[in-house]
Amino acid sequence: MRIRAIARPPASTATGHALRPDVFRQCMQRFCSGVALVTVARRRIWSGLAVSSLASVSANPPTVLVCVNRKASAHAALLASEAFAVNLLGEAHSGLVEDFSDPARRAARFRSPDWTVGQLGAPVLRTAAAVLECSLAEQVEWGTHTVLFGQVMEGWVGSADAPLVYGLGGVLRLVTPTGEAQNA
Ligand SMILES: Cc1cc2nc3c(=O)[nH]c(=O)nc-3n(C[C@H](O)[C@H](O)[C@H](O)COP(=O)(O)O)c2cc1C
Repeated sequence: MRIRAIARPPASTATGHALRPDVFRQCMQRFCSGVALVTVARRRIWSGLAVSSLASVSANPPTVLVCVNRKASAHAALLASEAFAVNLLGEAHSGLVEDFSDPARRAARFRSPDWTVGQLGAPVLRTAAAVLECSLAEQVEWGTHTVLFGQVMEGWVGSADAPLVYGLGGVLRLVTPTGEAQNA
């Protein structure tokens, strides 16, 4: 995809009090991120979703935040449960991103035998690049989303494969400055 440089903002991107949501989304697509699967177990039912809103808040105490749309099927369980897991994905996991971001594929999400129960009870992915098991420390409602602060109680580093990178509306491939794939 070719990216056009815009010297100054077009005049029609504001609604009068805020940037238009579609323009905001286009802007944020220029900000590449990793992808994680946020998972939870509630009354023995597993649920989860793909997120790119993960951020590290503090190393002491170790804390992350994720922003979860209130319409996500896992939203109620995440708020009701005391624990959730953040499964950081590697390059090989793009199929899981599709499963965990498509409401039509909810039933397929935990079919892999790579899922197991973590120390705090939430589903964790054995093949993840890393796993953070969190207790829900705080929640803040903002717009369409709830910001969940998770205090990281357990965690481990997994596969050393290249991390999965998402940007420009799709999965990207990491390359070195010489143009070679990161893990080729
Ligand atoms: C790369 C990527 C990142 C996403 N990040 C978020 C996010 O941070 N928060 C969120 O609520 N939804 C996010 N989504 C959308 C959800 O994954 C999607 O709406 C999902 O279907 C919600 O779960 P449900 O189908 O069980 O309702 C993201 C989707 C993709 C593909």
